[in-house]
Amino acid sequence: MANTQLNIVILAAGLGKRMKSAIPKVLHTIGNVSLLERIIQTALSLEPQKVIVICGHERDIVQASLSHLPVQWVVQEAQLGTGHAALQAVPYLQNDSNTLILFADGPLISRDSLKGVVESTPKNGIALLVSEFADPHGLGRVVRDDKGLFLCIVEEKDATPEQLHLKEIFTGIVCAPTTQISQWLQHLTNDNAQGEYYLTELPRLALAEGCAVTTVRLANPQEAQGINDKKQLAQQERYFQTRQAEALMLQGLILRDPNRFDLRGEVIFGMDVVIEPNVILEGKITLGDRVTIGANTVIRNSTLGNDVIIKENCVIEESILSNDCTVGPFARLRPGTVLQSQVGIGNFVEIKKSTVGISTKINHLSYIGDATIGADVNIGAGTITCNYDGVNKHPTIIGDRAFIGSDTQLVAPVRIGEGATIGAGSTITKDAPANQLTLCRKQQMVIENWERPQKEGEH
Ligand code: UD1
Ligand code: CA
Repeated sequence: MANTQLNIVILAAGLGKRMKSAIPKVLHTIGNVSLLERIIQTALSLEPQKVIVICGHERDIVQASLSHLPVQWVVQEAQLGTGHAALQAVPYLQNDSNTLILFADGPLISRDSLKGVVESTPKNGIALLVSEFADPHGLGRVVRDDKGLFLCIVEEKDATPEQLHLKEIFTGIVCAPTTQISQWLQHLTNDNAQGEYYLTELPRLALAEGCAVTTVRLANPQEAQGINDKKQLAQQERYFQTRQAEALMLQGLILRDPNRFDLRGEVIFGMDVVIEPNVILEGKITLGDRVTIGANTVIRNSTLGNDVIIKENCVIEESILSNDCTVGPFARLRPGTVLQSQVGIGNFVEIKKSTVGISTKINHLSYIGDATIGADVNIGAGTITCNYDGVNKHPTIIGDRAFIGSDTQLVAPVRIGEGATIGAGSTITKDAPANQLTLCRKQQMVIENWERPQKEGEH
């Protein structure tokens, strides 16, 4: 059910100078999802009547990259400050609602924390989300009187030396009845050190009108850490990964070292799955029961069945592995790889767009592309499917129980019959019949009485 009482405005128009980047700040990513998309998704999870995103800097790129999201885009032509940004939303807000304002560069605020602010919003006044930071450098400080009553927020550049010692900070998140917030936004001035229209002046205007200012204390300051530079981006990535890893461990995943695990997407997993250090999972991943993933492995958009073992240093993309397969170390499974059950893939094997049948083994140094390989096949070391003629890709088909000798080139299109044996070192350009030995290599010869050349003077 939509919360008809709530409008949300997300400020995302700033340049992000401190990022020192050609990419708009709000399109930098955490866990492969842009900062702006993360905060929009959290906003949408509150089921508001509408979400308005204020864009400006590089707005075409920003809008195009998030066009799939149900939000209203409003342009702030010149970036004159956070208050000026919020003001742009005023014509589009619904008067009978509360308006919650969020910063796109604070993307990890939780739904529950936002809900707390919305629920604490006075009928006649404003709620602010505040927190205590050990290092408040650069942030707006909350100033209170002797009794602890809220007075105002002061920006770092406008603060007195005493105020700079204050550790209570403003997170950037406010919520107030729309009619009131709209009026206050229209009354902001830019009479401050930065010559900007500050959102942080709203509570001062509220107090001047005798309205209530409620401060809501955020228990976990890390949620509200803004991202202004690459250092903070990395810190928030780690915080996000830690939070995710902890949730996964509580769901039963064994992470040998949660600090050396990255999930940039979603993982569904069975019982007793073990993930060794330095594993990266991306996109949509499904892992069956008792899967083991060795150290330094990257898996993208793939499904692994029960009891699959991935040894160290593998890269697996858009592949499907059935039960009891073993892969690696040092194997690369490229998009379109399908391994049926009990397949063994060894070191330095690359497979692309190929299906490998039950119990087939490809243990060493091979390239298999555009191939359909049957069951119980043995592919010797150094086997290459020559699938590309420079223009087109051609298929290789290998029947059940075939045995391909080492260092064989299979020049596609080509078919190897069931039970066929290919002699080592062959270049196969024509179909090989079932159950026969096919080989293509020069006869071995011996040159008798041949002498090695010798250096002069040596005998
Ligand atoms: C702001 C707050 C500060 C607070 C801190 C929390 C103000 C004046 N200061 O400082 O009190 O402690 O966040 O992280 O509000 N933006 C626009 N248009 C503009 C300017 C900014 O859309 O003209 C957007 C930015 O894209 C960004 C957000 O507003 O997403 C915050 O702006 P930023 O410049 O990062 O503010 P801070 O200096 O971090
Ligand atoms: Ca900021």
